[in-house]
Amino acid sequence: MRVTQTTTERGLNQSILPMRLYQKAKKLGIWDPRDIDLTQDKEDWKGLSDAEQQYVLRLCSMFQAGEEAVTRDLLPLVRVISLEGRLEEEMYLTTFLWEEAKHTEMFRLFLDDVVGVKRDITEFHGENYKKIFYEFLPEAMEALIQDQSPEAQAKASVTYNMIVEGTLAETGYHAFYTSLKRLNKMPGLISAIDYLKKDESRHIGYGTYLLSRLICENENIWDVVNSHMETLLPYAIGVVNEIITPDENMPFGLNIDEFINFAMKQFQFRMDTLERARTRNVDEIYLISEESVGVLR
Ligand code: MN
Ligand code: FE2
Repeated sequence: MRVTQTTTERGLNQSILPMRLYQKAKKLGIWDPRDIDLTQDKEDWKGLSDAEQQYVLRLCSMFQAGEEAVTRDLLPLVRVISLEGRLEEEMYLTTFLWEEAKHTEMFRLFLDDVVGVKRDITEFHGENYKKIFYEFLPEAMEALIQDQSPEAQAKASVTYNMIVEGTLAETGYHAFYTSLKRLNKMPGLISAIDYLKKDESRHIGYGTYLLSRLICENENIWDVVNSHMETLLPYAIGVVNEIITPDENMPFGLNIDEFINFAMKQFQFRMDTLERARTRNVDEIYLISEESVGVLR
């Protein structure tokens, strides 16, 4: 029988991390892609070299499909959390899904208004990219429809929050910052990336909390997390390699090794944070600070 939490003594627990993230999202996650001024971006686009345009277009095609994928694939996790009666977590996840939808909208807006591209740009998706976004991610998330076990939840969150968001998206922002932002180009797109990065810091913060909770609650989950991270790492590094192709003469003077190092650093930071959960108890995880899981502002 259903127990209604909000109208009983239990009420809503404002102190746990997901509820604090929910409160933050209501203030910080309300930016509107349509308010972003892309006038200067249109001018700047015309001034880029062919190799630079290719690079920005490839990066955007990876983000566009990536944002669409995370928008479509989150739902099974929201359902699992709801079935477990974790109302505060579900409330946070409503903001999470809405934000991914806005990220999808943002890149489409940029492609339509600035680049004016109407053709299929999935040609920019390499083998590793396809493996992660066409296979690993949807499969891990859809598995939750049949299987709500802690193991299945851990695999889903590792794929979605740690690899796709925590390693790849973070490296993608870095790619925009070290090219366009460094040269003061495309201020509209860069301001959108600033918003995205803040939204994503809450998503990754939630994922870190979820995995930490699962690790604390179940003896075997650390091994599941550890081995799934290791399974996905080579593909993630493969995607980073696909950001630049060798024939492009390194647009914006970029260095691929620097990108790989950046991605590895992100990956290691996620691993270290999760490993700390092994020594904690669940009550400590509930009260974990936003700062310790990297939530911005
Ligand atoms: Mn996103
Ligand atoms: Fe996200």
